[in-house]
Parts: sequence; structure tokens; C-alpha cells
Amino acid sequence: RPVRIIGAPSDYGANRRGVDMGPSAIRYAGLAEELEAMGLETTDEDDLPIPRAETRDPDVEQLRSGNAKFLRETREVCEALEARVADAIEAGMFPLVLGGDHSIAIGSLNGAGKNADVGAIWFDAHGDFNTPETSPSGNVHGMPLAAALGRGAFAEEPWASENRLREENVVYVGLRSVDDHERDAINASEMTAFTMSDIDERGIGPVVEDALDAATAGVDGIHVSFDMDWLDPNEAPGVGTPVRGGSSYREAHSALELVAERHASEGVLRSMELVEVNPILDSHNQTADLAVELAASALGKRIL
Ligand code: ARG
Ligand code: MN
Ligand code: MN
Ligand code: MN
Repeated sequence: RPVRIIGAPSDYGANRRGVDMGPSAIRYAGLAEELEAMGLETTDEDDLPIPRAETRDPDVEQLRSGNAKFLRETREVCEALEARVADAIEAGMFPLVLGGDHSIAIGSLNGAGKNADVGAIWFDAHGDFNTPETSPSGNVHGMPLAAALGRGAFAEEPWASENRLREENVVYVGLRSVDDHERDAINASEMTAFTMSDIDERGIGPVVEDALDAATAGVDGIHVSFDMDWLDPNEAPGVGTPVRGGSSYREAHSALELVAERHASEGVLRSMELVEVNPILDSHNQTADLAVELAASALGKRIL
């Protein structure tokens, strides 16, 4: 399928500026050129229009309970992104969404799951399963999975009833930083969670194969949500919430090559996003360069 690049330069969900420059940095690193060189027809849409955070009010009182900064703005961004993602899929294209912080995944998941049963693979150091009631930070980038599944205060949002994301088809790969309430919620959920310990014990290959089995069972396709902080900070320093002990450069490529292989045999991949690139914190655009390489691996690039 032809690729449609969709920029979502939102930083409403993170507590620091810079991640709004992620789409620019990834484009500057040559994303479209790389995909074209692989023989993939690629179009690059305009970024979603997103007002600067300083011009808006973070208003954490919007919810009756809990704390979710810029929730109103996040709703606007995610509604618009949902429409863009759904349009691309309807047009027979592959939406490749560039963040922005991870709150934009609410829009990607709603777009991918609009008229189809979908699963998701969540490559991330973090669980992103807080709700406004449990979040230690109030930052919505720590909540998108809970939002898309309608947990806690998010039950009042239209999101969970709009998408057909199936909890039993949501799979984490490589978790290593989980808040206390999140741990309980993940354990009590029907999601599958592979931690960094699982990768240490079993190796990246078997873990990703199991993740693909669980995510794809009985659905029309999957969304791959790729938070650059899944990688070790030595490889990906340009992220807002780095955590030591992340995946290696080779594990990351290997994981996405396995996704591409499964797609080649079973056509499972419906959409993908690359999030949390923060060029201000980066070293010579290294993290954006890596994002481009990883997108290429996910979309079928091979050494020979
Ligand atoms: N768990 C922390 C929080 O809720 C950090 C979340 C980081 N999420 C991310 N997408 N980088 O604030
Ligand atoms: Mn909607
Ligand atoms: Mn995340
Ligand atoms: Mn993360």
C-alpha cells in the first residue's frame, strides 16, 4: 500500500516543550526519501494544525475527578487525527503518524479502529495506562491506552465507544517503567504484557512472535504504536522520559523486521505511529534518524 505520512506535532500530553518538533525532525532525517527509495509510493500530508501550548489553558479542573492537563486540546487533536487516519485507510493507504507526544495515540487508535476490529502492539518503556485519577503527573501521554479503552474518568469520553480496539488484542513489548496503580490495572486487564525481563530471558524474536500472535488473533488488523523511549537512552537520547535498560539498536530493528515479515505473509499491519522524538534533547538528530530507519524496517526494508 502507498504510505501517507501524517504529522501530529502535539506536546499537550507531555510536560515539556520540544516534542512538537518531532515531525519536523523525522522529516529532516529523510523519512519520505527513505521510503521512496524502498519503492514505496509516499505522500506527506500537512501537519495537523495545533496551537502552541502557551496560548492555551492547561485547565486541570475539566474532569470531575482527577488530573489531565490540556485534555480539551488533546480531544481536538485526537478527533482531527482520527479522521486523517481513517481517511487514509479508507483510501487504501498506510497511515504513518509522526508525533508529537504519545497522547496522539488516542486519535491513531480511534482512526484505525473506526470500522474494524483492531489490536495494538505497544513498544514502550511505559505502560501509558494511567487514568486522570491515577496519574502521578497529569500528563496525558501517560494515559492513551486507558483513554482508548475507556478506563476510569475516560468512560465519559466518546473514545472507547467509537473505536473497536479489543483489549485482549493489546500487547506490550518491553515494559520497564510502570506506576503502582498502573501495575494493578495492567495485571487485572485482559491485555498481554511482555516486559524487558521477558526479552532478557527469551530473546526479542520469540517475544515479538508471541506478541504478534496475541495482537492479531481474531481482528482485522493491528496498529503499531512505537514510543522512541522503548530504546535505550544511549541509542535514543532525544525523548522526554528516558528510562535506562531499554532495547538495543539491533533488538529494535529485529522487532520491526518481524512485524514486516508477519505483514508480508498475513497482511496484518493497518497503521503505525512513531512518537516522543524531542529534538531539543537529542544529539545531532540521532533519535529522528533512528526513527526513520525503524520505519523502514517496519515497512519491509532488508539488508539484502
Ligand atoms: N507513567 C508516567 C506518567 O504517567 C510517565 C509516562 C510516560 N509516557 C510516555 N508516553 N512517554 O506520567
Ligand atoms: Mn470521533
Ligand atoms: Mn508512551
Ligand atoms: Mn514511553
